[in-house]
Amino acid sequence: MSEDQWCEVDYRLLREQARALLSGQTHQVANAANLSALIFHEIPGLNWAGFYFLEGETLMLGPFQGKPACVSIPVGGGVCGTAAALGKNQRVENVHDFDGHIACDVDSMSELVIPLFKEGRVFGVLDLDSPVPGRFSARDEEGVAALARVFEASVA
Ligand code: SME
Repeated sequence: MSEDQWCEVDYRLLREQARALLSGQTHQVANAANLSALIFHEIPGLNWAGFYFLEGETLMLGPFQGKPACVSIPVGGGVCGTAAALGKNQRVENVHDFDGHIACDVDSMSELVIPLFKEGRVFGVLDLDSPVPGRFSARDEEGVAALARVFEASVA
């Protein structure tokens, strides 16, 4: 698939689908499971999509789609831990250039991590991996961040 086709994700529609899928349900694990499935099947070019939730100073593996993954990530470690520590999205074109990247799946080449907030504090991250270098554009970051906001609102 060419990069042009990546751009065809209709994030406005996907956000509405996510809202409908999570509406009336506030259970964090159930909503994370359904949202990771929606993302994995609707956004092309992914090999992993899922959640890590903060427990103390550790991100623990939550619901996901893809191959089995690292169970725990220290805050500040890897791409996910960096997103959690800084409270900032991490859009990594080539994970091999990211100091401290944690390779759960050797196929992963690029990564997008969106921190999740509850009452101003990070409580987890939404993590997307792709086997395609530079898979995620600024538009993907914006679109996936909007999905993260839907998730936050559903469990608030
Ligand atoms: N690559 C991540 C680890 C999680 S997996 O990609 C599912 C990181 O560096 O934090």
